Amino acid sequence: MTVLHISGLSKAYGDHVVLDALDLEVAAGEVVCLLGASGSGKSTLLRCLDLLETTDDGDVWLDDVEISDPAVDVDLVRRDIGIVFQSFNLFPHLTVLDNVALGPRRVLGAGRGDARRAAHELLARVGLDDKAAAYPDSLSGGQQQRVALVRAMAMRPRLLLLDEVTSALDPMLVGEVLDVVRDLAASGQTIVMATHEIPFARDVADRIVFLDGGRIVEQGTPDQVLGDPQDPRTRTFLARHVGG
Ligand SMILES: Nc1ncnc2c1ncn2[C@@H]1O[C@H](COP(=O)(O)OP(=O)(O)OP(=O)(O)O)[C@@H](O)[C@H]1O
Ligand SMILES: [Mg+2]
Repeated sequence: MTVLHISGLSKAYGDHVVLDALDLEVAAGEVVCLLGASGSGKSTLLRCLDLLETTDDGDVWLDDVEISDPAVDVDLVRRDIGIVFQSFNLFPHLTVLDNVALGPRRVLGAGRGDARRAAHELLARVGLDDKAAAYPDSLSGGQQQRVALVRAMAMRPRLLLLDEVTSALDPMLVGEVLDVVRDLAASGQTIVMATHEIPFARDVADRIVFLDGGRIVEQGTPDQVLGDPQDPRTRTFLARHVGG
């Protein structure tokens, strides 16, 4: 079953084309990793999907809703799409527990007790229930990012978008965040993620999509794209990032 269907998606800043008639379909439970050089359009694509950017052309469907329709209810769409960025954007004035419980209470209309119980369960799943009463600034970057992932998951999103969720982290803290993403992927969450962690992408992705100049130049299983890249741009990128 298709969760996300993108057809002919285009976006330019002035005369700089950033997404160039891009087509992509993502099935339920699929984990798609976006790879590509800096500036290839990965973040722009993710931001367009979460309706944080306007698009110039093309259609995007999430299940049976055309989210590229200018008349779409943005709040309703965002309810179904979780997004986590490289910066830890937790609410600093709320405890960890309230960061996680806020969306379900305010947006999904969950009762206070239910929302808090669910938040505790999710925090326990990432080993952070002992931090429930703490404030974000007392947590490490890795812990904050695990809370950000839990906060997104608390909304039970149809689609989870991850943009370089480990790239602002101290290298020692990357593993604990990737473990959470791996766990989400294994649980059947549909994920589209931009990452520079190629070994991780190889491990977790069902499909690797390689972008260049806002176009998909190559896609396939990790074995295909990372093990036997066909396009010279993919080969150059991998040679640079995998260290020969
Ligand atoms: N708000 C903006 N105004 C003008 N140009 C922009 C804007 N945002 C992004 N761009 C340009 O769009 C292109 C694609 O940027 P994008 O951030 O999507 O790349 P990326 O693949 O995520 O790169 P990175 O790996 O560095 O995160 C870049 O050339 C960038 O300079
Ligand atoms: Mg980016």
